[in-house]
Amino acid sequence: MKREVDFLVIGSGIAGLSYALKVAEHGKVLVVSKTGVSETATWYAQGGIAAVMYNPDNYEKHIADTMKAGNYLNDENIVRITITESTERVKELIDWGTQFDMEASGRYSLAREGGHSEFRVLHHQDNTGAEIQRALVERVCNHPNIEVLENHFTLDIITQHHLGKIVRSSHNDIQCFGAYILDPNTGLIETVLAKTTLLATGGAGNVYQTTTNPTIATGDGIAMVYRAKGIVDNMEFIQFHPTSLYNPGQKPSFLITEALRGAGAVLKDSKEREFMQKYDSRGSLAPRDIVARAIDNEMKLSGSDHVYLDARSIREHEIMNHFPTIYAKCLSLGINITKEMIPVVPAAHYICGGVKTDEHGRTSIHNLYASGEVASTGLHGANRLASNSLLESIVFSHRAGLHAIENISRIDFNNEIPDWNAEGTVLNEEMILITQSRKELQSIMSNYVGIVRSDIRLKRAFDRLKIISEETEELYDRSVVSIDICELRNMIKVAHLIIKFASQRRESIGLHYSINYPAK
Ligand code: FAD
Ligand code: SIN
Repeated sequence: MKREVDFLVIGSGIAGLSYALKVAEHGKVLVVSKTGVSETATWYAQGGIAAVMYNPDNYEKHIADTMKAGNYLNDENIVRITITESTERVKELIDWGTQFDMEASGRYSLAREGGHSEFRVLHHQDNTGAEIQRALVERVCNHPNIEVLENHFTLDIITQHHLGKIVRSSHNDIQCFGAYILDPNTGLIETVLAKTTLLATGGAGNVYQTTTNPTIATGDGIAMVYRAKGIVDNMEFIQFHPTSLYNPGQKPSFLITEALRGAGAVLKDSKEREFMQKYDSRGSLAPRDIVARAIDNEMKLSGSDHVYLDARSIREHEIMNHFPTIYAKCLSLGINITKEMIPVVPAAHYICGGVKTDEHGRTSIHNLYASGEVASTGLHGANRLASNSLLESIVFSHRAGLHAIENISRIDFNNEIPDWNAEGTVLNEEMILITQSRKELQSIMSNYVGIVRSDIRLKRAFDRLKIISEETEELYDRSVVSIDICELRNMIKVAHLIIKFASQRRESIGLHYSINYPAK
């Protein structure tokens, strides 16, 4: 089965949908999402979107904060582009129907999070992502040029490897012709030929046991590009959010936004003693790498499996107005956050690396763009500044959109592409093999490749993962293709890349901390 579209968009979060709205004026667009259109990390975003809206904030301050949080491993040109275009892009989100909280004066209400020297985070209560997603979905679903294919799984991007031709090992001559897409209900695999493709598949938090990411975040896009011999970068920098709600067994872990700390909440131990000043003069509002490591250390010292966040100093009406979702969630578990401390623990939250892109969102593969969490633009360096990722998504989806529109007339469909080759795949394997390997993978990554690493832990992770990888490839070769086996394969690939990049970085910097290389 084949179909042709001008613009293929894989992913329906902020990166995919904002791009789709741009390019839809210039051709037929197909947006694919592996579950429902709104089951995205975007929907779960709480704190908000960082942007320069008014004085006394200014672009230089936001640029400086981003570079400092990233330990200056950021690409300064990309940082400048992102921040200086923030005002315009956020206004566009507002024009598309997103509502951000306002003050009585008519100005946008701005919050502050870790590592920010100014109040600059636009938000909609503590459910900013859901509001952005709502506005984008409404517009996309009403656009005559955009079709949304929900509950469809992209197996692979199509490149000349699928033509059965011998491909030179150079990264420079690979082209993308579309993607193979599985309908899990029928088992049919469609060949979607596209003039240009945007990867907007989000992050990979599920390679860890505890994550704030929804279950869709299995690193599919990164694995697809790596399989196609595209360039992947910066993979060692995994951000652990310091404060997810301690509630063992809940998946995904519920986030307690950093904006709560911006409003005055502080981290404490079980004896109600503040501990962050021991680690950083910015206290509970230090950047995330520092806070997550401090909590990890406090937990190891005390033997406890969580610490506390004390929000009792924040006025009750501010909690009700700005943080109603967190208030309600905690209350449902018997914790009244205006009167009691909140048990919190770090959780895998964001992957700073991914598919390497340039200032137009181009990957190393021709006619393939990437935007959002799947991309490694160079913005975050060794550690992402809070609330910079929604911003990064709209800036680079806009830029990729402009570039794709300018070039689309020069691109033709490739009609030589064969349909998916399912030869030799006959068995429906027992699910237990897949689920068990997935659990083993998550355990390896959490135990050996977490907040604190070492050479020996990374080596052990590598060796253990190799066994799971070999077993899974063997299983994949003889099984009927399914989402479960494909996600497992993708997660293994991403985990392997994280370990590989981490092993190559022989220093402690930002989110990569190794006991073998003391921080400078
Ligand atoms: P997503 O929004 O995750 O969308 C990914 C899409 O790709 C989905 O539609 C999915 O179905 C699709 N997809 C994936 N694989 C496939 C496949 N194989 N086939 C078909 N479709 C596929 N950032 C901020 O800036 N501010 C915040 O306040 C903030 N809060 C956050 C809170 C939480 C709890 C989390 C988890 C993240 C938060 N982040 C925040 C990070 C931010 O939300 C994400 O980085 C951003 O939303 C990613 O957007 P995206 O469009 O790249 O991906
Ligand atoms: C949060 O609200 O704390 C999350 C913000 C982010 O991940 O950027």
